[in-house]
Amino acid sequence: MQRPLTDILYRESCTLMPGGVSSPVRAFTKLDMVPLIVQEGKGDTITDVDGHRYIDFCQSWGAMILGHAPDPVLKKAQEQLQKGTSFGIATPYEKELAAKITTHIPSIEKLRFVSSGTEAVMSAVRLARGYTGKSLIVKFKGHFHGHSDSLLVQAGSGATHLPQATSKGIPEALIALTAALPFNDMETCRNFIRSRDDIAAVLLEPIAGNMGVVPAKREFLEMLRDETERKKIVLIFDEVITGFRVGLHGAQGHYGIVPDLTTLGKIIGGGFPGSAFGGRREIMDEIAPLGHVYHGGTHSGSPLAMCCGLETLRAIERKGFFEALNEKTENFLKPMREIAARKKLPIAIQSAGSMFSFFFGVEKVMGREDLALLDEERFKHFFKTMFAQGVYLSPSAYEAHFLSSAHTDENLAKAQSAICNYLRQIPDLL
Ligand SMILES: Cc1ncc(COP(=O)(O)O)c(C=O)c1O
Repeated sequence: MQRPLTDILYRESCTLMPGGVSSPVRAFTKLDMVPLIVQEGKGDTITDVDGHRYIDFCQSWGAMILGHAPDPVLKKAQEQLQKGTSFGIATPYEKELAAKITTHIPSIEKLRFVSSGTEAVMSAVRLARGYTGKSLIVKFKGHFHGHSDSLLVQAGSGATHLPQATSKGIPEALIALTAALPFNDMETCRNFIRSRDDIAAVLLEPIAGNMGVVPAKREFLEMLRDETERKKIVLIFDEVITGFRVGLHGAQGHYGIVPDLTTLGKIIGGGFPGSAFGGRREIMDEIAPLGHVYHGGTHSGSPLAMCCGLETLRAIERKGFFEALNEKTENFLKPMREIAARKKLPIAIQSAGSMFSFFFGVEKVMGREDLALLDEERFKHFFKTMFAQGVYLSPSAYEAHFLSSAHTDENLAKAQSAICNYLRQIPDLL
C-alpha cells in the first residue's frame, strides 16, 4: 500500500519530535513500518492522510466506546465550544458527571477530576501514601498505570519493550519504593503483603489490559481485598481502561469487589482529556483544601471533557447497551476461537466485555510470566496483513483491541473474514 503523504509527514515529524510521535507505541517501532497518520474518523472507521480507510479496533486505546465523532457528543461539544472551553473555575458539569459516576460505581463516594490517567493514578498513589503515612507501593508485573516515575517499574504497554524505563531517569530511591509482584500468583502476593508493614497501597488493573487482556482470578482479588483490609492498606483499582468499558459498574462491579480508591479515564472524557480518581469519603477528604494531600490542575474538570463525558455516559447507561456490545464482541471472536481450536493453533484469544487480544505462541495468559514465549514476529506479520486489508488493530502484541457500539455488522463481517482467513493459513504464512 502506497502512503506517500504519510511518508513525508512522518519524516518531517521525526526531525521535530522523538520518534515522530507524541506517545511511543504510535511510532510502530516494533512493527518495522511507517506509522499511521490519521486525518479523521467517524464511527468505526478512520481515514489516514493518504485517504486510506481502516476499520478501527484501537478506538483511541478504548476511549471511544461510541466510536469516532458520535453525533450526540459532537452536538454537546459544539454547544460548549461557543460558551468557552476552559475557565480554571468550577462549572456545573463537574457535579453532574461526578453524580453519575458515583451512582454507577458506588465505591466512589467522592472524586476529583484530572486530565489524564497518568495523573489520576499518580494522585491516587500520593493520596494513599498521605492517608496511611506509609511509602511502599505494590503493583503487578505487566500492568501499566501511566508514565509517572514510580509506576514505570516492570510496566506493560509501551514500556514493555523498555527495561531502561525502570531505571533511566527514575531515581533508585523511587524504584525501591515500588514492589512489582507476579499477577494472579496468590501465594507470592499473600506472603509479600503479610511480610511487610510499610505498604501504603496495592495497585492493580483488575482486568489487565496492557499486556493484552488478562483478567484477574476472582480468588486473587478476594485475597488482595482481605489482606489489604486486615493491614489497613489502600486497595486501588486502576480502571482507566475497564471503567465504563466492561460494564456500567466497571471491573469492580463485574467481580463484586469493593476497592478503597478507583482511577478512571478514557471513556469518562467523552473523547477529550478527562480522567478521575475517587473512592471512600474518609480517604478523599485528605485532599486539599480539606486535607493536606495536594492535587490541582489548570484543565482539571475541563468543561468540554465534562460535557462530552456526561453525554457519553448518558448513551452507555441506556438499557441493554453493554449486553449488546459484549455480545457483538463475542460473536466477532467466536469463529476465530473455533478455527484456533480446530487447527490446534498455539494462540490464546482472550477477552473481557468489548476488549480482546490475540496472544500468538501461547495457549493461556494469566500473568506476564506466560508471555515469555509470545511470538512477536507472528503478531507483526498479522498486524501488517490486517493493515494492508484496511483493518487497524492496536499496534502492539501487548495491547488490547476494542470494539465500539459504532462497529457496523458489515465492517465486523469484513474484519472477521480477514482475521479468520489469516488464522486458517497459519502456519504456512509468515
Ligand atoms: C490502566 C491504565 N492506567 C493508566 C493509564 C494512563 O492513562 P493516560 O494515557 O490517560 O495517561 C493507562 C493508559 O492507557 C492505562 O491503560
